[in-house]
Amino acid sequence: MENATFILNGREITAEYEGRMTLLKYLRNVECMKGSKEGCSTGHCGACSVLIDGILARSCVTVLKMLAGKSVETIENLPNDTMLQVIQRSFLDAGAVQCGFCTPGMVLTAKAFLNRCKHPTREQAAAALSGNLCRCTGYTKIVDAVMAAAKAMEETEQKEEQP
Ligand code: FES
Ligand code: FES
Repeated sequence: MENATFILNGREITAEYEGRMTLLKYLRNVECMKGSKEGCSTGHCGACSVLIDGILARSCVTVLKMLAGKSVETIENLPNDTMLQVIQRSFLDAGAVQCGFCTPGMVLTAKAFLNRCKHPTREQAAAALSGNLCRCTGYTKIVDAVMAAAKAMEETEQKEEQP
């Protein structure tokens, strides 16, 4: 048995594992965090997306061994994170969710994107989400949601800057 100590949604944990256990298997089967979805299991669909030290990552191809000392954020951090809440609200308002399977990965991808691109164009938003597969929506409403989240965050920033 090996172990890796890392931060999971703000809480330090020591995960015990054997062999090349992936973060996705650990989240779903050990932590009972079912928000990260298992789609392709090969790093191609984005359903399992999480943030590792703020960088977008595919948990299905991330082995626990690589996580020592790092910080992992999953969709379960939503109650503690204002930015995730703004993005979630925008997805709901835009009607960007149908079956919902892709949504947690989309929301985390949107967070990583909006952290590095605060004033995106639609083309940039669409490109950022293009690695996340959605079988239901056709993407238009998802891009609408990301643009709305960017606007909402900009407005909040402007309010905070006002004397
Ligand atoms: Fe990880 Fe598809 S399940 S990228
Ligand atoms: Fe169903 Fe995206 S809403 S896969």
